[in-house]
Amino acid sequence: MRVGVLTGGSDCPGLNAVLRAVVRKGAQVYDDEFVGFRDGWRGVLRDETVPLDITAVRGTLPRGGTILGSTRTNPLLLDDGLDRVRGTLARHRLDALIVVGGTATLGVAARLADDHGVPLVGVPKTIDNDIPLTDRTVGFDTAVGVATATIDRLHTTAESHKRVLVVEVMGRSAGWIALHAGMAGGANCILIPERPFSVEKVCEWVESRFRATYAPIVVISDSALPESGEITLRHDVTPPPGADPRARLSGVGEWLGREIERRTGKEARTTVLGYVQRGGSPSPFDRWLGTRFGLHAIDAVHDGDWGTMTALQGNRIARVRLADATSTLKTVDPAQYEEASVFFG
Ligand code: F6P
Repeated sequence: MRVGVLTGGSDCPGLNAVLRAVVRKGAQVYDDEFVGFRDGWRGVLRDETVPLDITAVRGTLPRGGTILGSTRTNPLLLDDGLDRVRGTLARHRLDALIVVGGTATLGVAARLADDHGVPLVGVPKTIDNDIPLTDRTVGFDTAVGVATATIDRLHTTAESHKRVLVVEVMGRSAGWIALHAGMAGGANCILIPERPFSVEKVCEWVESRFRATYAPIVVISDSALPESGEITLRHDVTPPPGADPRARLSGVGEWLGREIERRTGKEARTTVLGYVQRGGSPSPFDRWLGTRFGLHAIDAVHDGDWGTMTALQGNRIARVRLADATSTLKTVDPAQYEEASVFFG
């Protein structure tokens, strides 16, 4: 078969593991040929390709990012997007497409497969871990590792100066990174978008941690909101045509640090983790997960199981409908958040 492959949306560690496994199994077991599309759906729209064979994927397992490049381009936002996608697939005589992406990229894939008959399968990746029906997405474990290692470092400097250290992590609409890294790093409190927080309560926790002679670490998601509903967006950009129109986040951590200082009189500093969470080498788990997803994605192609996505369920790689996996977001379960709250304050 001739198979096109693209990686779309925010990059994350582990994408190359997926590509490597798809190509190795496809070429070795099924005698497939591959066409890599540059920069997500944009490469399909513009017919920009990258060589993708066993030589191209050799040595890429420990490499972060994606050898194909990535953008948030959504072809369905353009009037002629669908025709251009179809045109490119026909020009390359492709029998199938493998789409590695987050909710937005896979949402496009679901519509192309179900509404327009495009033969494709999806693989879920995002540091946010917010895709339903899979226990984990590729990239999440590495991001949690980076955030946890940072929290460990911040503990020592917070203790030396008796300061509050606020750590803003990514996650967009889901607090998974904050919850996992906050628990693993022994945070004084964890603030997530699913649960608007009381600044008063946060200040109480901070003060109680100082009374216990420890310096508090406050972990906050980039989309967490105070109960009053205020949030500071750092950027307000107009996206180019076809790009994802979502606002860029960040700022709530700085805002909270200032509020804590004002209300408690304690010195506070904010660290915004930002893109370090998405950069660098994938963790062993993400290499393992990306590899397994890649192996199962190429099997799904050969089974003609169009419109499906690989999913980790327990230790098993399952196939779920892309439409089901992209119709909603997987947010933090309130019961899991309650577990963590025992350590607040
Ligand atoms: O979706 C992954 C993510 O890293 C979010 O956690 C974050 O809010 C966003 O992407 C940042 O996106 P961009 O790369 O467009 O700045």
